[in-house]
Amino acid sequence: MTGRPLSADLSVTLGSLALPNPVMVASGTFGALMDRVLDVHRLGAVVEKTITMDPRKGNPHPRVWETPSGMLNSIGLDGPGLEGWIKKRWPAVQEYRCKVILSVSGRTVEEFGELVRRLDQLPRVDAFELNISCPNVSHGMDLATDPAMTEKVVRVSKAATRRPVFAKLTPNVTDIVAVARAAVEGGADGISAVNTLRGMAVDWRKRAPAIGAVTGGLSGPALKPVALRMVWEICSALPKVPVIGIGGISTADDVLEFMVAGASAVQIGTASFVNAQAATQIIDALPGKLEAAGVSRIRDLIGTITAKAQKPSS
Ligand SMILES: Cc1cc2nc3c(=O)[nH]c(=O)nc-3n(C[C@H](O)[C@H](O)[C@H](O)COP(=O)(O)O)c2cc1C
Repeated sequence: MTGRPLSADLSVTLGSLALPNPVMVASGTFGALMDRVLDVHRLGAVVEKTITMDPRKGNPHPRVWETPSGMLNSIGLDGPGLEGWIKKRWPAVQEYRCKVILSVSGRTVEEFGELVRRLDQLPRVDAFELNISCPNVSHGMDLATDPAMTEKVVRVSKAATRRPVFAKLTPNVTDIVAVARAAVEGGADGISAVNTLRGMAVDWRKRAPAIGAVTGGLSGPALKPVALRMVWEICSALPKVPVIGIGGISTADDVLEFMVAGASAVQIGTASFVNAQAATQIIDALPGKLEAAGVSRIRDLIGTITAKAQKPSS
């Protein structure tokens, strides 16, 4: 642990969701084994791996591939399904002293609502994140590339809970602001931006794609500039909407870049695979960064970037 200046206030709020610090771990990159090596209680929040209604086997192997400054994955939302998740994960998750955000993905709009309704019955869920943006399963990807579908799925999910609902968007669109706007129209309390960027790797000697599903999602530092640009675009167009920045964040400086661009909080994904304690080490490093900048409350940095969007994209 580093010495934290007493004056550093890392707390942030995303609408009605108050966090002790802005650092969450991203869906699908954190699970049962990681909570043995990471002090999960110190996080701003844990976002659980996406929960689907039925158990899923996921995509064919190989499912991950290292790329320059990043990785491709095509897991395909494997998991135990709703009942299996409640049996296997909930006993541990309900003991987490940080906020708990549940990520869901339905095969249909109605199934999103049903998943949220069923999980809403658990006693200490703090918020939901709608994974409408997984590039590795066709039903998820389709939703967040279409503003009308995005609005519908958020509306149905919001009707199933009084807890905050965040829509997780895909970077695989030309105009992310149009999709963010649609999510807000549907009642989203905030936006998580972004999921992975669709990519591909080829093993030319085998004349074959490197991953089993042919294409996969790019994450890690290679994604960061794209994610940062999209967060900035959303925050510029919708300044009152809380945005969670995701994509290639691996240092405290990365966190502050996203926050200055407008994000109220961030998620750490691939960086946890490089260093399982990345998220808590980043939390430890934030007070020193604030002190050096002469800022005592991290929230005072949110959206302070001087550049304004010259022309909102929609
Ligand atoms: C192996 C792996 C599995 C993932 N699984 C999920 C998932 O189940 N649900 C989801 O919404 N995002 C999932 N993601 C996307 C991450 O949550 C995050 O949006 C993305 O990796 C970008 O952040 P990063 O560059 O910090 O990793 C996954 C990413 C990786 C690398």
